[in-house]
Amino acid sequence: MKGTVFVELLKMAEDAFGEDVVDHVLDNTELANDGVYTAVGNYPCSELVKIVEAFSEYSGISPNVLQVKFGHWMLEHFAEHYSEFFTGKTGSFEMLEAIDLEIHLEVKKLYPDAELPRFETKRMADNHLSMRYSSPRPLVGFCHGLIEACVLRFDEKASISRCPIEHDKMSTKFDIMLEK
Ligand code: HEM
Repeated sequence: MKGTVFVELLKMAEDAFGEDVVDHVLDNTELANDGVYTAVGNYPCSELVKIVEAFSEYSGISPNVLQVKFGHWMLEHFAEHYSEFFTGKTGSFEMLEAIDLEIHLEVKKLYPDAELPRFETKRMADNHLSMRYSSPRPLVGFCHGLIEACVLRFDEKASISRCPIEHDKMSTKFDIMLEK
């Protein structure tokens, strides 16, 4: 997993809990890199999961909620640093439909070692997008947060539900219903 993701997670934690708490939590967690990450490095996703768990234990906020919050944080980061992917999109559905074959495809060209999920999207109705998220990494909450933040970014409102897909442990179905 790209170092940027780790750097942003620690920035979010600093913003929420303060620098001293972040140092304390990292010092007390067994991490392969001693909790030192650079944006250009690449680290196992299991380390990210460990960090989220450590902050969950410290704060009492569930790992899922922390992942969702991190998804929001990361979408803001992407919108600031990769604004070209957002311009020209008329709404969240268009953006979400572009992740797999446009956005992440470009990311893969820029960073061949990036570990990216797959998405299949289907418009069930004008206001209903169904998305199948597939990844071997346990980042469903993170994905949920990215989707929520994407809807907000386009000044829209939606109810978003998710459910696991039977017989496919690596996939989750998201249903996004836009509210008028
Ligand atoms: C709402 C839109 C987006 C969604 C739902 C989404 C979803 C995700 C998810 C869930 C992951 C974690 C990896 C996994 O689950 O296997 C991920 C990773 C990533 N995404 Fe996206 N993404 C979105 C937009 C973007 C944009 C705009 C960029 C801009 C460059 C981007 C770049 C990346 C990068 C660099 C990673 C990390 C890859 C790695 O660590 O190796 N994504 N994305």
